[in-house]
Amino acid sequence: MSIHIRQERPSDYPQVFHLIEAAFRQEKYSDKKEQFLVERLRSTDGFIPDLSLLAEMDRQVVGYVLLTEVKIATARDEVTALALAPVAVLPAFQGKGIGAALIEKAHTVARDLGYQSVILLGHERYYPRFGYRPLYEFGISLPFEAPPENCMALELVPDALKNKAGKVIYPAAFFE
Ligand SMILES: CC(C)(COP(=O)(O)OP(=O)(O)OC[C@H]1O[C@@H](n2cnc3c(N)ncnc32)[C@H](O)[C@@H]1OP(=O)(O)O)[C@@H](O)C(=O)NCCC(=O)NCCS
Repeated sequence: MSIHIRQERPSDYPQVFHLIEAAFRQEKYSDKKEQFLVERLRSTDGFIPDLSLLAEMDRQVVGYVLLTEVKIATARDEVTALALAPVAVLPAFQGKGIGAALIEKAHTVARDLGYQSVILLGHERYYPRFGYRPLYEFGISLPFEAPPENCMALELVPDALKNKAGKVIYPAAFFE
């Protein structure tokens, strides 16, 4: 069975809602509200439709990833970056490379659109395979408490985060 990745359309919203709900149901470090986060993020200025992607297998929606805009406030200026949140695959389809395919595709589209870096809070054993490194290596911090090993960033272009030490600013929608 092949995986088809495409941009999400408004008609997909109900299916994506249920997919995210099901994917996080068994997840220990989850507030089980990621589906509502996505609903809120879709109505922010930082929502980029090209970076709201879903994976289909046999026309069934089995995975979803969203990258939205955030800022990094440095000592000199504000730099635009992306936040990866969430990525989700239906439990029955996990471990088949769908999450990886979604993440890699999202990176490619983001790079093509001119974005330079991606920030996330996630599993320390999953994301390094895509090139993510701990945020502290870049001197960047999040505006809330989180285990340092789970706070990561990816440079979509070499040295994008060099000399960009600072604090990530998320849209208010992340915290409602
Ligand atoms: C995380 C998730 C998106 C990965 O998607 P997937 O399609 O199952 O992942 P892939 O098939 O590309 O990769 C599988 C690998 O991910 C690892 N993995 C999956 N979930 C993991 C987790 N919670 N912690 C660490 N590694 C994890 C598997 O162990 C496997 O590792 P291996 O390749 O070394 O055997 C999916 O498991 C999921 O939806 N989980 C629930 C929601 C969630 O936790 N989202 C991420 C929030 S940070």
